[in-house]
Amino acid sequence: MKFRFSLNRQIIYLIIGFGLLVLASLNFAGWFFLQSFKSELVQELKNQILNTGRMGSRLISGNDLENIFPGMERSPTILYYQQLLYDIKVNNDLENIVLIDITGRILVDFRINYAIGDTLFTFPLQPALLRQASVGETPEPALSKFSDQYFMSAYIPILNDFDETVAILVVDAPLKFFTTLRNFEVGTIYLGISGVVILIVFSLIILTATRRLFRVEDRMKEQERLAHLGQMAATVAHEIRNPLSIMKGTAEVLRKKYQQLSDEMLTYIPDEIDRLNRLVNDFLQFARQRPLHIEKVDIQDILAEFKHQLRDPRLHLETKTGLHKVIGDRDAIRQILLNLVQNALDAIGERDRVEINVENLSEKNDWLTLTVQDNGPGISEQDMEKIFDPFYSQKSSGSGLGLTISKQLAEQMGGNITIESRVGQGTLVKVKLKKA
Ligand SMILES: Nc1ncnc2c1ncn2[C@@H]1O[C@H](COP(=O)(O)OP(=O)(O)O)[C@@H](O)[C@H]1O
Ligand SMILES: [Mg+2]
Repeated sequence: MKFRFSLNRQIIYLIIGFGLLVLASLNFAGWFFLQSFKSELVQELKNQILNTGRMGSRLISGNDLENIFPGMERSPTILYYQQLLYDIKVNNDLENIVLIDITGRILVDFRINYAIGDTLFTFPLQPALLRQASVGETPEPALSKFSDQYFMSAYIPILNDFDETVAILVVDAPLKFFTTLRNFEVGTIYLGISGVVILIVFSLIILTATRRLFRVEDRMKEQERLAHLGQMAATVAHEIRNPLSIMKGTAEVLRKKYQQLSDEMLTYIPDEIDRLNRLVNDFLQFARQRPLHIEKVDIQDILAEFKHQLRDPRLHLETKTGLHKVIGDRDAIRQILLNLVQNALDAIGERDRVEINVENLSEKNDWLTLTVQDNGPGISEQDMEKIFDPFYSQKSSGSGLGLTISKQLAEQMGGNITIESRVGQGTLVKVKLKKA
């Protein structure tokens, strides 16, 4: 199946970013709206208690309140004002309304059994407001807190004929309003927090989802590309192989015919044809992944055989006993080993060395590792990203398929290949295979 659908990533990230921004600003706007709503409510209440207080103060004569002492609770004047305060309280749904003197002691309140000189019984006295009111000003009521409870009081001065403050009318806003306000505030906070949390979770989900989508897209593109390359390679390889074998046969005939010339040139042709053949074989191997014949394999056998085949004095093979058998395909393991050792031998100089080592990773572990280590020039970090790519080679005659095929085969057997390398120090290739 072809993967035609292509996503423009920048645009998608831009859209996601924009969407999140819109969500964030909506959240913020909502919060801001609730905040301004709250301060408007408080302002409303301020006006209400101030107005109520001012209206009430007009019904009270300062002169009546000038000489009031404890014990006068039942005097007609006091009884009159007591009734007045009670009416104002009930009509305006106030928490409390009370007349105090400039030291903050109660002169008149609406309770039947109160005593002149009592202290305030609802909310604490607000000294700053008291001070202002006692010099004849009407202070601005402020939202205050008293043991986790909001309250607000208006302090209205009551003057005598000489414009002296003789009493102060204290008007307390209804408590139930503040309970509502408090709930409202808690609600706003929860709303804000949950908005932010939802936003974060939402963006994380969207980002991971898109990232995963992009990764899938990459993989599909890569697979498509490889499938293409594979088909192409297979076709080309087939077309090349036939003429190659004819050329090799012909070269052979020519060499026999002109044996007496003993010209070196006559051996060049079959040698180069062999090299081409190897290249073509690599292509084919890469193009058509053959199904593996999976069985229990003794790596020790393969290594012994391999040492016999490849006689290079730079090659050092460490054989161990007690190795686990692995699950894999004998030919595939052989091929991987050959590719890796060939790379190592290509990379090193005459006096360097390549070491092959096999060991059980650990008794508890499911893996056996085969390592090929050289002390050659190493691989730079930039190259490291590309060396497993098909057709990536730094050699003039390389196919660039050795590592690609090796990785494919290792993965087909349920294992993997990793490479560690330091420039100037050498390269260590690890093949992990499953223990049988
Ligand atoms: N042991 C090694 N030391 C240094 N470079 C290496 C080693 N093994 C692989 N490489 C680099 O990786 C490239 C790709 O290797 P490979 O896939 O086997 O293709 P090829 O051997 O045909 O070039 C090589 O061309 C080489 O540059
Ligand atoms: Mg190679």
